[in-house]
Amino acid sequence: MSQRVRFNLIGLGNIGRNLLDVLEQRRAQVLADYGLDFVLVGAADSSGAAFDAAGLDAAAVRDLKLARRGVSAYPGAGHPGMSGLALARAVEADVLVDASPTNLRDGEPGLSCTRYALQAGQHVVAANKGPLVLHYAELMQAAQQTGRRVLFSGTVAGGLPTVNIGVRDLAGCGVTRVEGIFNGTTNYILTRMEQEGIAYEQALEGAQAAGIAEPDPTLDVDGWDAANKLVIIANSVLRRPTVLADLQVEGIRGVTRETQQAAAAEGKVIKLIALAEQCGDPAKRDYTLSVRPTALERDHPLARTGLWDMGVVYHTDYMGIISAVIEEKVPVPTSAAVLRDMINLYQA
Ligand SMILES: NC(=O)c1ccc[n+]([C@@H]2O[C@H](COP(=O)([O-])OP(=O)(O)OC[C@H]3O[C@@H](n4cnc5c(N)ncnc54)[C@H](OP(=O)(O)O)[C@@H]3O)[C@@H](O)[C@H]2O)c1
Repeated sequence: MSQRVRFNLIGLGNIGRNLLDVLEQRRAQVLADYGLDFVLVGAADSSGAAFDAAGLDAAAVRDLKLARRGVSAYPGAGHPGMSGLALARAVEADVLVDASPTNLRDGEPGLSCTRYALQAGQHVVAANKGPLVLHYAELMQAAQQTGRRVLFSGTVAGGLPTVNIGVRDLAGCGVTRVEGIFNGTTNYILTRMEQEGIAYEQALEGAQAAGIAEPDPTLDVDGWDAANKLVIIANSVLRRPTVLADLQVEGIRGVTRETQQAAAAEGKVIKLIALAEQCGDPAKRDYTLSVRPTALERDHPLARTGLWDMGVVYHTDYMGIISAVIEEKVPVPTSAAVLRDMINLYQA
C-alpha cells in the first residue's frame, strides 16, 4: 500500500530544482522503503506558477528551469504572474515545500505561503530560514492547532542534521553549550587565508569567483547568516524564544593574517563560531548567544574543519559532547535534507 502525498513547491532555484532531481532519482526507493509517493501538484517561481491536481511532470518543470524559463511557461498548466500564495490557494496539497529566497525584512513570499498552508491543514517543509527566524513561535503554534508539522532540517548548515540531533536525539538531555560553524562561505574564506597565507580580500575574491560568495557578501561575512541559523537553533533545540536582536554578532572582516598567525603561535585556529552558552539558573534554560571569530584549540572538532565543511558541537549534561561535521560542496545536500523532512513527516 502506498500513500500519495501531494506537494506544492515554492522556489525553483538551486534547492527546488535539485529537490525535483533527487526525488526523481529516489522515487522507487522512497516508495519501496516508506510507501510514499510524492506528487508535485504545484510549483512557483518569480515568473508565476503552474499547477495540476493530477500532478505536474517534475522533469518538465526542471527542464524549463534549466532552459532559464519560468515555470509559468509550463504547457497547459502555467499561470504567469500567479503568486506562491495564490498557487497554494488554487490547488489542494498535503505538504508545502518552501524553497523561496530568504527575506529577513518581512519573510515573504515564504511567510504567507507557510501561514496559509498550516491554516489549510498542510505540513510545511522549509529550506527558507526567513519565516522561522521572524515568526518561529507563531508558526509552531499554528501547526500545533491544526495537528500539522513544520520541519526545517535543511535550514541550519544544509544537509548536516544540526536541528535533528538537537531536537530529536538530545530529547530529555540538557544542552549546556552549542558551538557551530553554520556558514560555509566564511569557513571557506578563513580556511584559505590560513592554509595559503592570503589576505581576507583575496580569499573573498576567490570565493566570489568560484560562486561560493555572493557579489554582495554582507550576509555571510558580517555573520548574519550564521546568526539567523543560531536563532533557529535557539528556538527549536534550546526552546529559548529568540530573535536576532538577542545575539551579539561580529563577522570576519576584521580577521587578518596577523590575527591568524598570533592565534597559530598559541596553537589555535580562528573560526567564525555561532555560540549558545547556558547562563544563570539551568532550570530557566537561558543562554547567551553570539556569532564571532573565535580562536579554537587545534584539537577542537571545529578547528579541524576544511574548506567545504560546516559543523556543530553539542555539550550536554547526560550525553557528553556530540559533534558532527559535513563536507558540503554543492547545494544538493540541502535538497536531500528537504526530502529527509518530507519523509520524516510521515514517520511515527
Ligand atoms: N543554496 C543553499 O545551499 C542553501 C542551503 C540552505 C538553505 N537555503 C535556502 O533555501 C532557499 C532557496 O535557496 P536557493 O539556493 O535555491 O535560492 P535561489 O537559487 O536563489 O532560488 C530561489 C528561487 O525562488 C524563486 N523566487 C524568487 N522570488 C519568488 C517569489 N516571489 N515567489 C516564488 N518564488 C520566487 C526564484 O525564481 P526564479 O527561478 O524565477 O529566479 C528561484 O526559483 C533560500 O531561502 C536559501 O536561503 C539554501
